[in-house]
Amino acid sequence: MSKVLIVFASRTGETEAIGNLIAEGLRFSGHEVSVVPVKEIKSDKDLIGYDAYVLGSATYHGGMMEKMKTMLFIAEKAGLENKVGGAFGAFGWSGEAPERIYDTMENIFKMDMVGDPLMLKSSKLGGGMQMAHEYGKKLASKLTDS
Ligand SMILES: Cc1cc2nc3c(=O)[nH]c(=O)nc-3n(C[C@H](O)[C@H](O)[C@H](O)COP(=O)(O)O)c2cc1C
Repeated sequence: MSKVLIVFASRTGETEAIGNLIAEGLRFSGHEVSVVPVKEIKSDKDLIGYDAYVLGSATYHGGMMEKMKTMLFIAEKAGLENKVGGAFGAFGWSGEAPERIYDTMENIFKMDMVGDPLMLKSSKLGGGMQMAHEYGKKLASKLTDS
């Protein structure tokens, strides 16, 4: 069993809901998951002790939410190299946030990324719940392989 940390930045709850569904997908596969709002990550010490990290933000004004930007500077010092990673977020039309988070985790933190960010308009529409569960299961199989 691995330990997974999911951190989300969400204004109206959509990204939080996606994070909780990803957590369910991971738990189905037997992993221990904590889902925390980004404001709870105050230093790199809050990021220590996990095997995988899944970071999510909604997109506002063409980018990620400010608190997630700050969190990524904290995460830079947390030694996440080679840890399993994924990124997600709710969006309306352009969805830059999950892509930028994913790219930072891959290129700066040098993490072992799951393949693609998960971008959903809503967890309640168009198979969103299932896609979020599947993303959790995909992360779980990467943890089993690593
Ligand atoms: C003022 C405002 C600006 C937004 N800007 C964007 C944007 O640039 N690109 C995009 O894809 N969605 C944009 N959205 C849509 C949000 O990403 C979408 O409502 C999302 O579900 C919010 O997620 P949350 O509930 O986790 O905060 C915007 C929404 C608002 C209210």
